Amino acid sequence: MPKVGFLPNERTVDVKAGTTLLEASRKAGVAIRTRCGGNASCLMCKVHVGPGQGVLEPSAKESYKMGDWTKHHQRLACQTRVIGDAVVTLPEDPLKAAVRAKLEQLKKEKQEKDNDRWE
Ligand code: FES
Repeated sequence: MPKVGFLPNERTVDVKAGTTLLEASRKAGVAIRTRCGGNASCLMCKVHVGPGQGVLEPSAKESYKMGDWTKHHQRLACQTRVIGDAVVTLPEDPLKAAVRAKLEQLKKEKQEKDNDRWE
């Protein structure tokens, strides 16, 4: 049975060949955002699958939906089928990413103020 690992959650699950990454994530208890229920229409289930992983090449439907994104190893979890061991990286939650970016901006502004004070 292929093993599918999910990062950054660091969870691994055994699945049957042919299982989608979305199904594997559910089995592993890893949340992947979805609105369409796996019909390749919402594009919310994008994940990063690096080269050499045990997944099938993108189908015509997935390639059509994703365009050039598949060249950057971005895949739709609902359309990507497992054929061997694979490691999948989930994107950062958009809200967490926004909060992290704001905190970095505030930290940078504070450092610039501190530097101005000493000049
Ligand atoms: S779940 Fe909507 S595109 Fe994959």
